Formats: sequence, C-alpha cells, structure tokens
Amino acid sequence: MKKVSIKDVAREAGVSVTAVSHILNDNKQRFSQGTIKKVLDAKEKLGYIPNKNAQQLRGSKTKMIGVLLPSLTNPFFSTIIQSMDEHKPDNVEIIFLTTINKGLEENIKHLVEHGVDGLVIGRLIDEPENLNAYLTKHKIPYVVLDQSEDNGFTDIIRTNEHEGGKSAAKHLIDYGHTNLAIIQPYELMANMKNRIDGFEQYCGVHNIPNPKKINTELSKLGGKNAVNQLISQEVTGIFAINDEIAIGAIRALIDNNFAVPDDISIIGYDDIDFAQYMNPALTTIAQPIDEIGKVALHQILKKVEGLSSKTEKIELPTQLIVRETTQSLK
Ligand code: RIB
Repeated sequence: MKKVSIKDVAREAGVSVTAVSHILNDNKQRFSQGTIKKVLDAKEKLGYIPNKNAQQLRGSKTKMIGVLLPSLTNPFFSTIIQSMDEHKPDNVEIIFLTTINKGLEENIKHLVEHGVDGLVIGRLIDEPENLNAYLTKHKIPYVVLDQSEDNGFTDIIRTNEHEGGKSAAKHLIDYGHTNLAIIQPYELMANMKNRIDGFEQYCGVHNIPNPKKINTELSKLGGKNAVNQLISQEVTGIFAINDEIAIGAIRALIDNNFAVPDDISIIGYDDIDFAQYMNPALTTIAQPIDEIGKVALHQILKKVEGLSSKTEKIELPTQLIVRETTQSLK
C-alpha cells in the first residue's frame, strides 16, 4: 500500500515541497495564512503523516510492523510474539506493545506517526469503525487475531473456538462427569463466547442443560478466587476458559484439600508451555499458538507489500490434549 508522501501534499496544496516541509515543521513565518491553510487542509485531506522517526534511515526496504496484544505475562501472548520474531524476514522490524483498554487508540496513533507500515491487533478494539477509518485514511494495513472481533474490515486469524469448547465438554462427559462448571472472565471476548457456546451446546445435547458459571478475573489469581464459589456445589468437572485460570483453580483446590483429579477434574484451554510440566500435568484444549503468530505475520506482510487486497478469515484447528488433571468416573 503506497503511503501519502510530502510530494502528494505539495501537489494537492499547489505549493512547493519545501514550503510544505517548512510549514509542517513549524517554520511558518514567511508564509501567508492562506498558504498555511492550504497545506494543513491538504495534509488532513490526504491523511499525510510526517515521519517523526528515522524511517529514511531504516531504508525504504525495511518494513516496520506494530503488534498490539492485551498482555505479555500470559505465555499465550508471549509465545505469539516469540513466533513472529522467529519467523520474520531480515528486512522486517517488529514493535510489540501491550495496552490497557483505554490506551489502544493512542498507541496506534503513536505507532502510525512513527512510520509503522502495518499493524497486527490481538485485543478487543472498542471502536472498530473509527479505527478502520483512521487506518484506511493513513493507508496502514492491519490484521486482527484472537480477542479482536471479526468486523469484516480486514483479515482475522482465529482458532476453531466452537469446536474447542465442544471437545472440552465431550471429554468431561465421556469421562462420566455430569455436574459441570465453567470458570470464565467477567468480560467475555467474542472468541471466548464461541468457546463457551460450543461447550454449552454439547452439554445441552447430552442432557446437562446448565453448567454452573463462575465469573472471575482472566488470570491465575482469578482462577484461585473462583474456587470458593465452587467447592460447596458438588461439581466434579471444571472447564477453565484458559490455562492460567486452570492453574490458579488447581492451586486453590489443593489448598482446600481437594485432590485433582481424584475429587475434581479440570480442563484448561490454550496449551501454554507450562501445561505439560505441571504436576499434575494439565489436560487442555491446545491452540496452535506458534502457528497463529506465523500466519498473522504472513498475512500482514502480504498486505504491506500490496500482494493481497481481499479480506480473509483464517481458522486454525484446536486439539484435545489429555494429561493428568482429568479422570474418568466410570
Ligand atoms: O490465555 C489467553 C486467552 O485469551 C486465550 O485463550 C486466548 O485465546 C485469549 O482470548
């Protein structure tokens, strides 16, 4: 995608490149109000972003990609980062940022003003229409993944969440569990809603209409805190919305003298790197985390290089990994 250049602004305003450069660099003394206005209007109309950083020093062949994720402490997201970093070609630089909810737009503007060529966004976007309009105006392609919604504006990379939730329910029910609970975050992203729909639908078809739902923080501490609300309810099978919640819940179960899996089975979601090393090792639904990073990078580079203008929805598979935190009641 070709970015708007200073030459385009000069042409639109009907003045020289030097005049545009002076005016945009606050060297306005020798220009009339009329000329200044023409330049500022042309800049606004074309969505020109002056390069505040050393894009020229990078050389025009080096591409800079900004990646925005909700957290770096959760291995799910740091593994995506690792994967992108490992798979990036030599002429690509990546800037990784995590954002709290309100910071997303400012972070994106900051990256755009510093000459980023494309963006990968892996968290909820509050105002997708506005963001799409802003990035389109500035000719910055972007792709979204995981917690971002599919608004149809650009490529989305997701896993088969519905199938993943269904596989978790099937595993617990195949093992004879009928008294089930879901530990989920207060704020459910679209991908997690699909995950839970898949779980609940499978339960419904197998005569377990209403698994209990415990809402908590999306963290290990959240999992730990959720357990208080569960232990009086004779639950034998828990579906944790992610592995971190499962890890926190297992800690609290053990602290409350429940054996996992002898008293309670628990299945997580993600298959983060810790899952296989825990004791007991965590049964979970694996997302192909490395592949998510690789595919997202591939898609954004295609767009930055102008090789793809169509909008793609890419769905990667999930997989049940049976380890030691679930046990058959039969
Ligand atoms: O662990 C982080 C969770 O949030 C994952 O399940 C991922 O899919 C994201 O939505």
